Amino acid sequence: MNEEKSDACGKETAPLPEKENDFTTELPSGTGTPSDNAPVIKAEGVTYSYRSGEQVSRGVTGVSVEIYPGEFVVILGRNGSGKSTLAKLLNGFLVPDEGVVTVNGTDTADDDKIFKVRSEVGMVFQNPDNQMVASVIESDVAFGPENLGVPREEIETRITEALEIVGMESYRKGSPNRLSGGQKQRIAIAAILAMRPEVIILDESTAMLDPKGRREIMETILKLKNEKGMAVVLITHYMDEAIGADKIYLMCDGEAIASGSPREVFSNEEAVRLAGLELPVAARVSLNLKKAGLDVGFALTDEELAEEICALK
Ligand SMILES: Nc1ncnc2c1ncn2[C@@H]1O[C@H](COP(=O)(O)OP(=O)(O)OP(=O)(O)O)[C@@H](O)[C@H]1O
Ligand SMILES: [Mg+2]
Repeated sequence: MNEEKSDACGKETAPLPEKENDFTTELPSGTGTPSDNAPVIKAEGVTYSYRSGEQVSRGVTGVSVEIYPGEFVVILGRNGSGKSTLAKLLNGFLVPDEGVVTVNGTDTADDDKIFKVRSEVGMVFQNPDNQMVASVIESDVAFGPENLGVPREEIETRITEALEIVGMESYRKGSPNRLSGGQKQRIAIAAILAMRPEVIILDESTAMLDPKGRREIMETILKLKNEKGMAVVLITHYMDEAIGADKIYLMCDGEAIASGSPREVFSNEEAVRLAGLELPVAARVSLNLKKAGLDVGFALTDEELAEEICALK
């Protein structure tokens, strides 16, 4: 792969900020971001390239991200836009070439603290099969806390709690091999939860699931946020999963080309188009009706769209 990438995001033509930080320095109000809290994760001007011999492939360039306690943050972008690279930078899986990532103030580049960082920011990947380490579900869930040196009795409590959250307590003694994709993914989430991270990152963790499986995982995610106050970072290319976010970072060609509440990001039609994504249906219809001359406000959800249409005289 070549270092020079085509400027698919049209940065020359788009009325978008030139500097990466311009997107994130002022978070809009109403995003659910608690202004008096310090971010758990702070990434500032982060750049990472993959190198293999002579080959250099750009992963992300100059991305700045802040994740606050209890936030539901979506990183949205099409294939190859840099979502997974960014995710891996946020929990120290990768260390930036330029810029800094801190987790609770700890620099992820600090080798001595990497275990602490990984226990505070847990990550669930796309394919649950690659994340199973044991042949019995409870042992799989116990693996993380065991490595953290958590006492045995405490581990038992954590296993029960984590499996209950994901609705899999009755499978505790079973084998992961017999589970459906959605169930495996829930066990993978439980295995992370048992480490009691402050942030859980789900990298396209619903991508392999059917609509029901996706819905179940989404419900679990919202439960974590609401009941445990955990920050959730969801990486996806599904627009409908992003609608309920407190904050979205829209990725395009390795850069965060827009950020803000779903309303702010999705009403930025140009940025969404440049990112190669389709607006949610309600947003698209409301914008088209407006362009056609009707007095219709921007609608994010089907319900809002119905209200806008009903309000037409
Ligand atoms: N291991 C790797 N070696 C070389 N290049 C890589 C590697 N992983 C990612 N890249 C490149 O980095 C860029 C960003 O990839 P990344 O996987 O972060 O994107 P993504 O948004 O997660 O994509 P997807 O939706 O396909 O998961 C792409 O150009 C990709 O080809
Ligand atoms: Mg990816």
